Amino acid sequence: MVSAPGKLLLLGEHAVVYGYPCIVTAIDRRMAISVKNTQIATNGIHSAINNTTFVEKALEIGTKAWNLPSNGWEAAIEKSFPNTYGFGSSSAVTVATLSALAEAAGKSPTKQELFGLAFQVVLSVQGVGSGFDVAAAIWGGTIFYKNKGQLIEEVPFDEKDVSFIVGYTDIKADTTTLIQEVAKKKREYPQKVEKIFQGIEKLVVEAKQRIQEKDWERVGRLMDFNQEYLRDLGVSSQKLEDLIVAAKKAGAWGAKLSGAGGGDCMIALVGKEKREEVETAITKAGGEIVPVKMNEEGVKTI
Ligand code: MEV
Repeated sequence: MVSAPGKLLLLGEHAVVYGYPCIVTAIDRRMAISVKNTQIATNGIHSAINNTTFVEKALEIGTKAWNLPSNGWEAAIEKSFPNTYGFGSSSAVTVATLSALAEAAGKSPTKQELFGLAFQVVLSVQGVGSGFDVAAAIWGGTIFYKNKGQLIEEVPFDEKDVSFIVGYTDIKADTTTLIQEVAKKKREYPQKVEKIFQGIEKLVVEAKQRIQEKDWERVGRLMDFNQEYLRDLGVSSQKLEDLIVAAKKAGAWGAKLSGAGGGDCMIALVGKEKREEVETAITKAGGEIVPVKMNEEGVKTI
C-alpha cells in the first residue's frame, strides 16, 4: 500500500500557474491506496470517496506508460481525506494511485518520472493547474516550486518557534473558475497582471531565504504583501478578509489566503505565544480552525 500527502500553499498561488515560483508544504492529510492485478477483464475501484476519476485516469496513463495490461487492476482507497478544505486531495490520490500501480507491477519510477505522469493525469482531468500540489505529494517537506516542475528545491524549515494557523471560511472554492478569472484579467490588463506576478515572484524568492534564516516577522510581512497582490488579482473574498484582518489584529505576523481563493482556507503566521489569541480571533470572525501539521513526508510505501 502507498500513501501520499495533501498540501498547504504558503506563498505564490496563481502566479505559479504562469511559471512563477511558489512555496508549498506537505501536510498530515494522506491518501492511502493499494493496487493489485486480478487477471479479470475490467478495472475495479473500491473507494470511500465518490469521485474516482483521478484513480481511473491514473490507472489508464500509468499502464500505458509502463506497458502494462490496461485491464484487471483493482485499486482500493484505504484511507482518504475530503476535498472540503482545498488540501490537494486530487493530486494526493493521483500520486498514490500511480505509485501503488508501479509497486504492484514491480516498477521503480524516479520522482521526476512519477511527477510527469501524475501531472499529466491532473491536467487531463482538470484542464488547468501548475502541478505544485503534485510535486508536494511526491517530494513532501516544504518545497520551492517553479516552471511546471522544472525547478523543485527543498526549503529546510524548522517550525519550532512559530505556528501556521489554518482557518477555514466554510465556503468551497472553485479552483478552475478562479484560474479562469485570473486568465481573463490577464487578457484584459496584461501589463498590470504581469507586474503583480513579478511582485509575487520577488516576495516568494525572498521568503525562501527568510524561512531558512528563521526571520519569521519578515516572512509574515511577505505573506501580507502576497495577500495585497491576491486582492488586486480579485481572488480574495469578504470572508477571507474578515479572518485575515482578525488574525492580524490579534497579533499575527502575517496572514493571507491559501490556494485558489474565493473561499477555502486562510493561513496566519504567529509566534507560539500568540497562537491562542489568534485562533480565538479567527473563530470569533466566523472561521473554523483546522489543525494541520506541515513538512510531512512525501509519497511512501506503508
Ligand atoms: C490552487 O491551490 C493554486 C492555484 O495556483 C492553482 C495551481 O497552481 O494549480 C490557484
